[in-house]
Amino acid sequence: MALQINATNPEHPALLLELPWHLPLEEWPDEYLVPLPRGISRHVVRYARAGDEVVAVKELAQRPALREYELLRDLDRLGIPAVDPLAVVTGRTDPEGEPLESVLITRHLRGSMPYRSMFETTMRPATMHRLMDALAVLLVRLHLAGFAWGDCSLSNTLFRRDAGAFAAYLVDAETGELHPELTRGQREYDLDLARVNISGELLDLEASGALHPSVDPIDFGTEICARYEELWKELTRTSVYPAGKHHHIERRIRRLNELGFDVAEMQIEHASNGDTVTFVPKVVDAGHHQRQLLRLTGLDTEENQARRLLNDLESWMATQDDYAPGDPLGARPEVLAHRWVREVFRPTVRSVPPELRGQMDPAQIYHELLEHRWYLSERAQHDIGLETAVEDYIQRVLPKRREPLRPTEE
Ligand SMILES: Nc1ncnc2c1ncn2[C@@H]1O[C@H](COP(=O)(O)OP(=O)(O)O)[C@@H](O)[C@H]1O
Ligand SMILES: [Mg+2]
Repeated sequence: MALQINATNPEHPALLLELPWHLPLEEWPDEYLVPLPRGISRHVVRYARAGDEVVAVKELAQRPALREYELLRDLDRLGIPAVDPLAVVTGRTDPEGEPLESVLITRHLRGSMPYRSMFETTMRPATMHRLMDALAVLLVRLHLAGFAWGDCSLSNTLFRRDAGAFAAYLVDAETGELHPELTRGQREYDLDLARVNISGELLDLEASGALHPSVDPIDFGTEICARYEELWKELTRTSVYPAGKHHHIERRIRRLNELGFDVAEMQIEHASNGDTVTFVPKVVDAGHHQRQLLRLTGLDTEENQARRLLNDLESWMATQDDYAPGDPLGARPEVLAHRWVREVFRPTVRSVPPELRGQMDPAQIYHELLEHRWYLSERAQHDIGLETAVEDYIQRVLPKRREPLRPTEE
């Protein structure tokens, strides 16, 4: 059988042909390899250079190689964070003509680390909790897409930290199955495997002295399941919103925030019986919101104010016609944010008379207005709108606020 390279991109086969396919992966000379940290694996896995890219090469039998390749392509199509499949090489033989196993080639995930390399540098427990949250997000997203992982573990996950966000990527799809939808039993089974695997891996780390002493491996496994359940419940609650939907959406965002998750993306779909909203959650680091708001709008605020303002910005963006996250033809977030500052933020703040603003800067005022709108809408059980909130705030809240500042006359 002749060497055959199935690739997603027509440019890749030529680059991949340079690699020594006639040698078992374990015997590849160093000149082809890139020494980066690898996780624990059943198969032989190596990183190699292909043009300007670093690729991960995994040796395994032909059928599972082709299957995993297809599954990774499906995940890519579904927008799930997973490694990018590049090619499958089959029909390999050694110089004597003896067959060699096939390989699956994926793009090395830049900036990612296997958990051992991350944890060995004695990680703070707070950071570990955030990483587990990122893994819970990944598992929920996979399950929402109908993917049963079959082997969720720390070794089969890659973690990445950038721009203040924590993200988990699926790296090993070999045992996965894609269904139109998962049953509760399928999800529970997958979750149970995750719990057992993760606790086991943390016990190993503990035994080798690489785990922070305050981390309990068994509790951690249980915690990830609890976080998964909370997030699953919040994301799958039935939600068709009639008019005045803003408040319902805000309530859901606040609930996600209270659970410790943020909204990476939201999509509103209009239908005759109401609107449905879907959220893509994410996990961020302390201080992330402040930096993000500053970057997008130039507004410099405290962290909790920045989070509320970003929520407002994100909800507003989702109502814009040219909002298309991930689509190169859609408006860039910076452009939309600038429009929001001009059309929403500034006019709203300007409607508060300067003499009533006291020491508050514009971002603080806007934050207070959002909180006031939330409070009034909760009381009314529907969205009372920003304009009404502003009026009420000017007439009832601000005058009281100024009272203690006046000299008392008694
Ligand atoms: N595309 C990739 N980017 C970064 N690391 C990778 C990639 N593919 C594999 N790895 C590393 O190789 C390890 C083993 O890969 P995996 O697919 O889990 O093999 P196995 O099926 O043998 O368990 C992973 O834990 C990861 O550290
Ligand atoms: Mg694996």
